[in-house]
Amino acid sequence: MGKEITLAVIIVGDDSASRVYVDGKKRDCAEIGIKSEEHALSADTTEQELLALIDSLNARSDVDGILVQLPLPKHINAQNVIMRIDHQKDVDAFHPINVGKIMVGNFSFLPCTPAGVMELIKESGVSIEGKECVVVGRSNIVGKPQAMLLLHENGTVTICHSRTKNLADVCRRADILVVAVGKSRFITADMVKDGAVVIDVGMNREDGKLCGDVDFESVKEKAFAITPVPGGVGPMTRAILMRNTVTAAKLR
Ligand code: GUN
Repeated sequence: MGKEITLAVIIVGDDSASRVYVDGKKRDCAEIGIKSEEHALSADTTEQELLALIDSLNARSDVDGILVQLPLPKHINAQNVIMRIDHQKDVDAFHPINVGKIMVGNFSFLPCTPAGVMELIKESGVSIEGKECVVVGRSNIVGKPQAMLLLHENGTVTICHSRTKNLADVCRRADILVVAVGKSRFITADMVKDGAVVIDVGMNREDGKLCGDVDFESVKEKAFAITPVPGGVGPMTRAILMRNTVTAAKLR
């Protein structure tokens, strides 16, 4: 029999969205035969205690991947925590070594959501080369790495954010529009070019219902292809996490 693959997932506190995400990751692991190990810590866990847990998981030869679910409680410095994870076990690709490797195009892991978005764009059949790609949002988890991956595929990339002037004009230029701002229905049909590929990374709750950053019903009439929420980017993110966990096991 081959080697068993193990993913350790750490969740701190009782954020309800984080709980849903972590349960989904555990289900995915079970479905494809990866062993998952949950470390649920109380909200008053200190940074030192969390770092000590990461040290012990780094040292364990039976643990292939380590994921710390974000956000962390405010008293814990997330960057310190991410930097403590062995970069070869960093299945989120958040460690600065992995971020740097993505920047230079020589990577082992890709961050889950941006890599999932790239798969979705490829699946639409639209080539990225030479296209106007607009990324709305500049987070370390999505916006910044997303822009880099599109650039690697020879897209002409613009990153927009809350201080961008004439945001609607910039969005209307996009052949490929990726939106990750965390605001319900932020992108409306008048901001989208006819025939664009629109990828909605948003996961917002409105009256208990999940909705994206794009006004799906109106934008779908203009887009060549568009991802729904739920059921679009989310499942791809989870699939890439599984791929990264297998990669981590192979690396070691
Ligand atoms: N919180 C929201 N998205 C993510 C993610 O991709 N990884 C982790 N660890 N936490 C998150």
